[in-house]
Amino acid sequence: MKLILLGFFFWIQAIIFFIRNLTIFLKKPSLIHVEFWLFVYYFFNFSRAKHLTEMKQSCDKKGWLFNEETSNFTYGETPYFTLKKILNSISPKTNEKFLDLGSGKGRCVFFTACYFGMESLGVDMIPSFNNLSSKVSNRVSLSLVTFLESDFESIDFSNYTIIYICGTCFGKETWDIIHSKLETVNPGTRVISVTYSLQSSNLRMISSSLGRFEWGVDNVYTYQCGQFQKS
Ligand SMILES: C[S@@+](CC[C@H](N)C(=O)[O-])C[C@H]1O[C@@H](n2cnc3c(N)ncnc32)[C@H](O)[C@@H]1O
Repeated sequence: MKLILLGFFFWIQAIIFFIRNLTIFLKKPSLIHVEFWLFVYYFFNFSRAKHLTEMKQSCDKKGWLFNEETSNFTYGETPYFTLKKILNSISPKTNEKFLDLGSGKGRCVFFTACYFGMESLGVDMIPSFNNLSSKVSNRVSLSLVTFLESDFESIDFSNYTIIYICGTCFGKETWDIIHSKLETVNPGTRVISVTYSLQSSNLRMISSSLGRFEWGVDNVYTYQCGQFQKS
């Protein structure tokens, strides 16, 4: 009964999100192609069991016990309409470079490339996400999009001007690494963090707001990197 209710809720939410995304699809029809191929590739090649196996393999790579640290790989998405609202508030330019730390199926990366024309990189440790989303990107000939199967710990943050961190389920160890890497970003870089505010001496908060995500309404914090005088 609980499963039926969850399934029902999932489909109702998917329909509501689709309706809220309609104006975006009308403005950027390339995103409809992306959605079509995402559906085709993931429906036929991905399953909950495969995801669990790859989560376990990723935990092994990190040297984590599966049951303790699985939460880092818990999956949930940012809908297009939420990302549009967040990004509009920081006015991205087409010559900017977007980085999604833990890109999952890559919707944020597809969105920033198609809607804002930004060169966009998605990094995720789950192999299927990168394989399947790269296939989608090739299908729709999106040259601005790259997916990398990697731990974002090994990425040079300083190459990007907008960094998106949807780290609701990241553990303390992961957040500590993100914080130390954020010390290396260049002045002017904007950083967006979902759920948690950031503590970094070179980041100044631009805004704090609420956004709708797959798991409900959550906090969104935006920051800009600069040189600030200590008071
Ligand atoms: C909540 S999902 C966010 C998906 C996407 N960014 C969005 O907002 O729609 C978080 C993703 O981070 C990935 N992840 C967690 N730790 C990671 C790490 N150390 N390196 C790369 N990816 C990681 C997980 O596999 C998961 O797909």
